[in-house]
Amino acid sequence: MKGSRGTYETFVRPLLFSLDAETAHHLTIELLQKASHFNPALRVLKSFQPSSKPKTLFGINFSNPIGLAAGLDKNGVALPVWAALGFGFIEIGTVTAKAQPGNAKPRIFRLPEQQALINRLGFNNRGADAIANRLAALRKSGRWPVVPVGINIGKSRATPLEQATDDYLCSFRLLQDFADYVTLNVSSPNTPGLRELQEPEKLSELLLAISKEAGSTRKPLIVKISPDLSGAELKAILAVCEANGVSGIIATNTTLDHSFIPPQLDQPGGLSGAPLRNKSTALVREIASRSTIPVIASGGIFDAESAREKFYAGAALIQLYTGFVYRGPRLLREIMDSL
Ligand SMILES: Cc1cc2nc3c(=O)[nH]c(=O)nc-3n(C[C@H](O)[C@H](O)[C@H](O)COP(=O)(O)O)c2cc1C
Repeated sequence: MKGSRGTYETFVRPLLFSLDAETAHHLTIELLQKASHFNPALRVLKSFQPSSKPKTLFGINFSNPIGLAAGLDKNGVALPVWAALGFGFIEIGTVTAKAQPGNAKPRIFRLPEQQALINRLGFNNRGADAIANRLAALRKSGRWPVVPVGINIGKSRATPLEQATDDYLCSFRLLQDFADYVTLNVSSPNTPGLRELQEPEKLSELLLAISKEAGSTRKPLIVKISPDLSGAELKAILAVCEANGVSGIIATNTTLDHSFIPPQLDQPGGLSGAPLRNKSTALVREIASRSTIPVIASGGIFDAESAREKFYAGAALIQLYTGFVYRGPRLLREIMDSL
């Protein structure tokens, strides 16, 4: 991995990595939530912000093409901080219709040698209603971020797959007003059966229902897909997305392909970070060559080079998760400087 080490990698990461991964995550989110209410902290963060590189896509103005990927701020508690750090857009969620605790702990695992994470969180979140109330309060407080906010929705675990559409619709109704775009997550590996919603018939049904609900005030609709699709499956998904006027595709979610992970380190769950990089780039390239639907690339972006690779493959925007956990805010600046 290229790029020199910053304050985060030298001082903050060793502290965080001395804790269990989920404890470190909660501590960080709590701190960022507090900082979101504290103007001096936001001002300090803003002073390190990379300069903006605006881009307009599906009618939305992005101050730069680097976004925060879904899952880091599932409940949308730290929006002002992500914007102050310089993210060009923020995706919160995955939010489900019902509040749910997720799977049993431990459920996030670091693999530092592999620059990777494995997680089987299972959409732990406070539920669409509570999150809508939180977002309403944020809007009222005048602290709503200046950058676009995407809201990623998924199926509640307790809802049978056959009723998935109603579950998504419930979250969509509660949250669409707060979103600049809405992402339908049909690709997390940790909710049993969820990935079946990528099958053409099921995906069509979901997209039709959401489009009908959105009516004429329609916000851009994005579909987030798995990296573990065959060529034929991808082709079918693209056809359904095109037929239903989907605005963008996020490629990709985490992978179930753990073939590069030594067996003694392996865990059930979705693998993210460096081992996902090539697979996810290949999918971005394939989508860009087969379709005109804009792609948001996510998977294994750790430095300027891996970010550029996604843009060369045809991505319009990119999102960071695991790379940000390992490299911190410096990663944003490094990528921005190289664009
Ligand atoms: C701990 C963890 C939790 C995640 N939670 C979600 C989620 O709730 N919804 C979602 O769409 N993606 C989720 N993701 C996937 C990321 O948004 C991203 O698509 C994936 O990790 C690949 O990018 P990366 O290699 O930069 O991490 C999660 C990833 C991690 C590591």
